[in-house]
Amino acid sequence: MSGQPLIAVRDLERTYRRSRTSLLSPPPEVHALRGVSFDVARGERFGIVGESGSGKSTLIRLLCALDTPTAGTVAFDGEVVSGLPERRLRGLRRDLQVVFQDPMGSLDPRMRVRDIVAEPLVAQGERDPRARVAELLADVGLPPDAGERYPHQFSGGQRQRISIARALSTRPKVLVADEPVSALDVSVRAQILNLLADLVEEHALTLVFVSHDLSVVRHVCDTVAVVHEGRIVELGPTEQVHGAPRHPYTRRLVAAVPTLRKALDGVTAADLARGATAPGTEEAVS
Ligand SMILES: Nc1ncnc2c1ncn2[C@@H]1O[C@H](COP(=O)(O)OP(=O)(O)O)[C@@H](O)[C@H]1O
Ligand SMILES: [Mg+2]
Repeated sequence: MSGQPLIAVRDLERTYRRSRTSLLSPPPEVHALRGVSFDVARGERFGIVGESGSGKSTLIRLLCALDTPTAGTVAFDGEVVSGLPERRLRGLRRDLQVVFQDPMGSLDPRMRVRDIVAEPLVAQGERDPRARVAELLADVGLPPDAGERYPHQFSGGQRQRISIARALSTRPKVLVADEPVSALDVSVRAQILNLLADLVEEHALTLVFVSHDLSVVRHVCDTVAVVHEGRIVELGPTEQVHGAPRHPYTRRLVAAVPTLRKALDGVTAADLARGATAPGTEEAVS
């Protein structure tokens, strides 16, 4: 069964009903996803790119079983995820972890970092997560005492490192990242992207990576799906889609001013010039 895709999405639809603006008209519907199908193979680094409002986050919520499709299915390891019983959902939560765009919104400000990182492990029944938490903090380039502090004591990039440590805590098979660097200063984006790429490689993870910016996806993904108004308009090897885009919408994305690309190259070069600096040490702790 190893030829079976790890994630199989078939004819996925998600329609939202907005509240009625007039008693005379029916509630307006938003077709956020319309007939989306694709496979993600084990070990693949799968990018999803599209402008704001194209349906990317809706798709991610369905992949993670945080929402239920209007029609169609998401299967993980051959098993349809919507309507799974609680016990099976727990297995999915362990195997598939998410990093969101806004680390401040997804980290509980009242919890110490060590508890934030340990929480998914404890939810899986781990009784003494201390050693694992220390290992995870080191893996994402945070100092050992970071565990004693609170999220607001860290910079945006460091908070995203905390989110990544938390996501990796359960040793997932798949890491899903929804615009993980979009809220960060341009100067720290390359560091976080490189960290993600290194961890995906090191732990042989399957990656599903969402961005509105094709140049960012290109940095970390081997396959990319281009989403436009809730549909996949193009799907293929990232270099092919970027180098010879076939759909007019993809051409527009490629032609979009590559300022971030330049910024990324600049930061990477500057990082190299600084030599073997441990990741994270460049970012000031506020
Ligand atoms: N909970 C919701 N209720 C109503 N409409 C929603 C909801 N979530 C998303 N939408 C709408 O669905 C469309 C896709 O949104 P989203 O998946 O967040 O796109 P993206 O992540 O690509 O920016 C947008 O038109 C958005 O306004
Ligand atoms: Mg989104």
